Amino acid sequence: MDIKTIATTPYDDQRPGTSGLRKKTRVFLEKPNYLENFVQSTFDSLEGFKGKTLVVGGDGRYGNKRAIQTIVRMAAANGFGRVLVGKYGLLSTPAASCVIRKYQAFGGFILSASHNPAGIDEDFGIKYNATNGGPAPEKITEAIYQHSQRIERYLTCEAEDIHLEKVGSTQIGDTEVVVINPISDYAELMQKLFDFDAIRALFQSGFRMCFDGMHAITGPYAKAILEKELGAPQGTVINHMPRPDFGGGHPDPNLTYAEKLVKIMFGPKPPEFGAASDGDGDRNMILGQHFFVTPSDSLAVLAANATRVPGYKDGLAGVARSMPTSAAVDQVAKALGITCYETPTGWKFFGNLMDAGKITLCGEESFGTGSDHVREKDGLWAVLFWLNILAVRKMSVEAIVQEHWQKYGRNIYTRHDFEGVDKARAEDMMQNLRNRMHTLPDRAVGTLRIAYSDDFSYTDPVDGSKATGQGIRIQFNDGSRIVFRLSGTGTEGATLRVYIERYEADSTKHQTETQTALKDLIAFAHSIAEIEKYTGRSKPTVIT
Ligand code: G1P
Ligand code: ZN
Repeated sequence: MDIKTIATTPYDDQRPGTSGLRKKTRVFLEKPNYLENFVQSTFDSLEGFKGKTLVVGGDGRYGNKRAIQTIVRMAAANGFGRVLVGKYGLLSTPAASCVIRKYQAFGGFILSASHNPAGIDEDFGIKYNATNGGPAPEKITEAIYQHSQRIERYLTCEAEDIHLEKVGSTQIGDTEVVVINPISDYAELMQKLFDFDAIRALFQSGFRMCFDGMHAITGPYAKAILEKELGAPQGTVINHMPRPDFGGGHPDPNLTYAEKLVKIMFGPKPPEFGAASDGDGDRNMILGQHFFVTPSDSLAVLAANATRVPGYKDGLAGVARSMPTSAAVDQVAKALGITCYETPTGWKFFGNLMDAGKITLCGEESFGTGSDHVREKDGLWAVLFWLNILAVRKMSVEAIVQEHWQKYGRNIYTRHDFEGVDKARAEDMMQNLRNRMHTLPDRAVGTLRIAYSDDFSYTDPVDGSKATGQGIRIQFNDGSRIVFRLSGTGTEGATLRVYIERYEADSTKHQTETQTALKDLIAFAHSIAEIEKYTGRSKPTVIT
């Protein structure tokens, strides 16, 4: 193999965000060596991968296949012994994590911008996952960024494009490139965790569900597992064909963007169960008939019912949630006598806790739920977990959640997103809040009193690493909370996220509509942060 050394110059904007490097697709296409710089900076930040295995796959969005061909050549030139690539260049994020772990790969690249829209005028992204199958921790992402600031060359080689359409193996010099079935390893893992017979029997009894693939990666996975393996009727999976532009949609499984599914589940005679996943397959939304399960509640319900599911029958080591996620799972942890860890936003913070055996289940309010079966959140896994619970408990989704609230109380919860606001103004707003934080304690807000306010920081209990500036919290004496943070996954302007939560133990008040139940706290959030003054918006773009 003829290794070619190509001269290049740094870009100053290659610091990975909450989940990898995300930019407009055109940035990757039009800025010379933009992808190559990031990939080489990653390789140059790592040690000991010579002769080892690299996994590469993506969510199928525009630019996916081209990027894969580039990465495969660079991996060969940099000395990897083997590259595993998903057929058609596809691998959902959780499947990539599964493959990295199963084949003990050194690491992997996932090409995705998750739930961000795809296409030449939309978003593209790349993320490096480490040996444990999880997103690279901060010390690696920071090293990648530092390398990207002084990069002078990258390594590649002359080689024909890989045939991504066929499972099989080829050589580039000493490197074996294997195109693998992107579904089978993942499906096999799911079969080990869940009672497939019970779920099969559930479908046989006439139970109906609707799964929305949103024209993104999970369509083929859901078809194979739900319809073929578990016998759900054909047509259970809608929008199942992955498209390079995700059908022009916004593949984020929430009440706003999973429009078709929401119409079905809130329409006449809906199926018993509804679910959706996002662009790269790591998020999930759970719906019952005319009923939405907030992701925070979903995590709590899974934790409370875990021992009914084969993969978790021996109980949970512990649980974790990101700081802005509601404390619903904390109530369950308390009842189970296990620890609940509170981490900053982003999946990378869960990895250490899982590797150290401190937690089994974890989740985020942003439609992410997962367990230690992989090191990513996992959309279809959450759906199968729910199916398994429904099959065993023989109750409706709503009945399960209502019963849960009865027992543990309800953490009434909402998130308001203000998308596409001016970045500098949004940062000013946060700074202004930060400056005033210390004046808030003891202040009365209606019948509530502010207990404390801070900018969340986290010390990893496993390796002692510290993350600061993770979101401004205003905590009230009764456990209510308001959290403000700026998104770290956007590619344009800024997105302000405001998270609002109130605990309600009284079950006669559990049926109050969420926005109504939280209205005073929402009004206070607007006034204290001066949202309208700084963002020019009086209403959020998306409410979840
Ligand atoms: C968002 C979510 C976060 C999630 C991440 C990746 O990040 O809020 O929970 O881990 O996407 O899916 P943010 O845009 O808020 O930084
Ligand atoms: Zn995602």
